[in-house]
Amino acid sequence: MKMNRYEEIWLMLSGGMLVIFMLITGYQTFALGMGPPSNKETIDPQKVDETAPFDNPGVFKTGENEYEVVMTLEVFNFNPGKIEIPTGSTVTFIMTSKDVVHGFQVVDTNLNAMVMPGHIQKATQTFDKPGEYLVLCNEYCGAGHQHMSTTITVK
Ligand code: CUA
Repeated sequence: MKMNRYEEIWLMLSGGMLVIFMLITGYQTFALGMGPPSNKETIDPQKVDETAPFDNPGVFKTGENEYEVVMTLEVFNFNPGKIEIPTGSTVTFIMTSKDVVHGFQVVDTNLNAMVMPGHIQKATQTFDKPGEYLVLCNEYCGAGHQHMSTTITVK
């Protein structure tokens, strides 16, 4: 097959770039152990119930208008299931999964996080408007995935 010299050069250049990109990604993954883009803290997913702070999930007041929610996610629920906070509160969610990958999305806010076993996920949100905020799991996690939801009550 007769090929134009420029065509050959461009083919080699783009093929070479592909190989270089794959080498970089492979190096980052395997040699540098790069994980998912989230909070870097890790936890033994087998021992969530014994590891602080997840041995005591709940809503904790940490300051003036500031709360911390320590939450575990598992098929197919959020623990604590009932969250009530006053209007204007800034809430830091500290989450991990006890089994598979779950999602934590709070409708009408920018809160949307992936919660993975073995990783601690953190997200902060200020709730300025009172109401019932729907919390959904948006990562397919099994047969009951569509039932995995709860609410945050702001009043
Ligand atoms: Cu948990 Cu889908």
